[in-house]
Amino acid sequence: MNEVISAAWQRLAMLDRPSLGELFDRDRDRFDKLSQRIEFDIPDNGTNGLLLDWSKTHLDEPTLDAFEALAEVCGFAAAQAALFGGDVVNPTEGRAATHGAMRGSGTEADVEEGEALLARMGMLVGAIHDGALGDVKHLIHIGIGGSALGPDLAVDALTRDLELVDVHVVSNIDGLALEQAFAACDPNHTLIAVASKTFTTIETMTNAASALKWLQDNGVSDPSGRVVALTANPEGAVEWGIDETRILPFPESVGGRYSLWSSIGFPVALAVGMDDFRAMLAGAKAIDDHFRSNEGRANGPLLAAFADQYYARIRRCQTRAVFAYDERLALFPDYLQQLEMESNGKSVTAGGEPVIGPTAPITWGGVGTDAQHAVFQLLHQGTHLVPVDFIASIAPGDELDPAHHRQLLMNCFAQGAALMAGKSSDDPARAYPGDRPSAMILVDDLDAAMLGALIAFHEHRTFANAVLMEINPFDQFGVELGKSIAKQIDSGEGDFDPSTKALMTAAGLS
Ligand code: F6P
Repeated sequence: MNEVISAAWQRLAMLDRPSLGELFDRDRDRFDKLSQRIEFDIPDNGTNGLLLDWSKTHLDEPTLDAFEALAEVCGFAAAQAALFGGDVVNPTEGRAATHGAMRGSGTEADVEEGEALLARMGMLVGAIHDGALGDVKHLIHIGIGGSALGPDLAVDALTRDLELVDVHVVSNIDGLALEQAFAACDPNHTLIAVASKTFTTIETMTNAASALKWLQDNGVSDPSGRVVALTANPEGAVEWGIDETRILPFPESVGGRYSLWSSIGFPVALAVGMDDFRAMLAGAKAIDDHFRSNEGRANGPLLAAFADQYYARIRRCQTRAVFAYDERLALFPDYLQQLEMESNGKSVTAGGEPVIGPTAPITWGGVGTDAQHAVFQLLHQGTHLVPVDFIASIAPGDELDPAHHRQLLMNCFAQGAALMAGKSSDDPARAYPGDRPSAMILVDDLDAAMLGALIAFHEHRTFANAVLMEINPFDQFGVELGKSIAKQIDSGEGDFDPSTKALMTAAGLS
């Protein structure tokens, strides 16, 4: 155990814990001190910005000083330099993590490689839009985990006004998911994208084979000519029967849940065009620039990680909730679940030692205002303390009566205020304890660049959390055991417990 880091955590644990009300009473400038605007200007896309407000959290001067000291002893600056410098930051797999380079942040060589791969993808996307593969109306994008969640989020968020190609993302091995996509697509006008970093994932390869069969069964000429591969294993894709001209590779050092910026983003580019895809990358790069050029509490993702760690490790909150007050971000909580829980749900440090406190809380959430009428009861009056993030856009996504958007934003702000203020009552059932924290991410306009910025912000927040917990956010060995037992069940080899045996028998699997 690192004594200096333990001492930094001890210091945090010993600090006073004033309520949110007390914090605002003590310092009326609290909003100014704990909020920040990040603005960026993207050629042909204009200026956009995010307002990050962490003033309704329990962070105060002594806590922030102690967290900055923790970041220092955890080697935050060096870790950040290692990330963008292409060093091995994933020691268990002996890899760098170069997703930043796919959007222009990294070593010269990595960025050059990213640009070349992007240009290659752009050529294929352009050719498809120009009709080189016939009249393509639909794309069935098959992938799972990081090969599906990012594309699904981005396609859903960015195609509310215009969708050049109708995209269906299929991840589940349950055949119903694929059947639903088939029902919505005309096989003669459909392309299949097989998205898999490894090109071995059982769900994806099974779905891909069934999709190819669907094309064959429906009389499509040259079915395999309708399949595109998005992968870090191009040899595997060739072996599977995909022609090299339709394989869009990406580097092994880009992790699955960080891969939206690579060719895994192909369905997004096909749906919204390369200009918007590039704008998404540019928005993410703007956050990279902010993350790399600000220190301590002035660094937005690091400040967010201070609050995350405060609630997870000091207040022992087991969950954190994220509510998007924007229909276009309906899939954002799902996306964040993998990013945060697969990255930071670990029990050992990067050096293999047991961690000294809880790691990633359970990320959950939904869309406002729906969630208000379903789960907010627990947030306001339940026994769990749940730190909440709200995300909203000042510019509306809809063109209806502005009353809709006004109500949406009013509701969002009201929830944060109510969680913090609470309300006393003589009737215990009608009393609200208050002092419940929330943070707000308020964007000017949710366009492609802003979506990229939001995602990159959370990637860096996740990385910052990992550094403070001393863990490796880039591996995911926890998913392997279940996969290998599923294989054993499939082959019938292996000694299973009585419960599993009985279930296999009941379902006719043995
Ligand atoms: O099993 C977990 C995982 O490895 C994720 O990390 C990854 O995003 C997903 O499976 C899909 O992997 P692949 O892109 O290799 O098919």
